[in-house]
Amino acid sequence: MVELNEPQSRLEGDLESRPVDAATTPEERRYEIALRPHRFDEFVGQEKIIENLRVFAEAANRRSDPLDHVLFCGPPGLGKTTLSHIIAEELGVNLVMASGPAVEHKGQLAALLTKLEPRDVLFIDEIHRLSPVVEENLYTAVEDFRVDVVHGDGPYAASIQLPLQPFTLVGATTRTGLLTSPMLSRFGYVARLDYYPVQSLARIITRSAGLLGLTIDGPGALEIARRSRGTPRIANRMLRRARDFTEVLGDGQLNESSARAALDRLDVDHAGLDDMDRKLLRVIIEHYRGGPVGIETLAAALSEPRDTLEDVYEPYLLQQGFLARTSRGRMVTEQAYRHLKLEVPKPQGQSALF
Ligand SMILES: Nc1ncnc2c1ncn2[C@@H]1O[C@H](COP(=O)(O)OP(=O)(O)OP(=O)(O)O)[C@@H](O)[C@H]1O
Ligand SMILES: [Mg+2]
Repeated sequence: MVELNEPQSRLEGDLESRPVDAATTPEERRYEIALRPHRFDEFVGQEKIIENLRVFAEAANRRSDPLDHVLFCGPPGLGKTTLSHIIAEELGVNLVMASGPAVEHKGQLAALLTKLEPRDVLFIDEIHRLSPVVEENLYTAVEDFRVDVVHGDGPYAASIQLPLQPFTLVGATTRTGLLTSPMLSRFGYVARLDYYPVQSLARIITRSAGLLGLTIDGPGALEIARRSRGTPRIANRMLRRARDFTEVLGDGQLNESSARAALDRLDVDHAGLDDMDRKLLRVIIEHYRGGPVGIETLAAALSEPRDTLEDVYEPYLLQQGFLARTSRGRMVTEQAYRHLKLEVPKPQGQSALF
């Protein structure tokens, strides 16, 4: 069973405030660290990516080379940060963590780069949010393993080039579309993480339950998995909430019926949609006749930042077929009407999707 009160480890660097559905409370952050897989063998799902990374890591280890630069893309909570930790552990090297918006000028980048030891991993979260100047400096660092630093002040300032140890850059982004193409081309391997199928989530839930000293049966794990929006972070969150409900209101046994009762109280429906998902679909239906509606308009109507809609809510609704993206904006699908038990409108000229 994991110890949650232990002093925070060096892995805490990734816990900066995040604009989207990141681990939000200190309690959740502690759990995330405790439940995080440390080796490829413990990482459930994303089989193709894991297989590739395993080969790259083993080859790099045999040659004592750094790994080729890797980019992880995908919605929040699918394992990008976790994989960066695993890579460093599998290579047996240090992990230096940074996040795009926090590296404000090239001096800060140089400070990070010059402390890297041979084959270390530099993880840059939200890499699409690096400033253009920092990004350009990063290009020479990742290609030629050198960095320009300014030495001295005023008229005596001079730029000198410092050699760097060969290292691996691991980038993570929730928004590949916002990455510049020169940046994208610097990565030898671009891994796009997909939402997890229910079976994989059930395995993650069972593993997490074990680490937390809980017992949950197969149907109970599947019930939580179905309502976790394909996302391990949410699966772990739901497991903790289900545990609270069953401990306080039930007999402490996590099974299908206690999990269902707990999740019903959290207003997560059988398709894994929460209040905000349903509100988003309802607003499009009730205020914009099912769409199309522009993302800015939608963000204003929902009082949510556009980024949150695009990073957190839309990808799952799109993937599950409740929402469609058109050149004129977002539209709900027939499936969304049915899910909300609303009458499907009759097709009307151009604006109808169905
Ligand atoms: N494949 C997996 N197997 C087991 N646990 C996982 C897996 N993927 C993610 N997790 C768990 O989910 C939590 C969230 O994962 P992680 O922090 O790596 O997501 P992320 O993609 O970096 O999210 P963000 O975009 O918000 O930074 C982790 O604590 C980890 O325990
Ligand atoms: Mg992360």
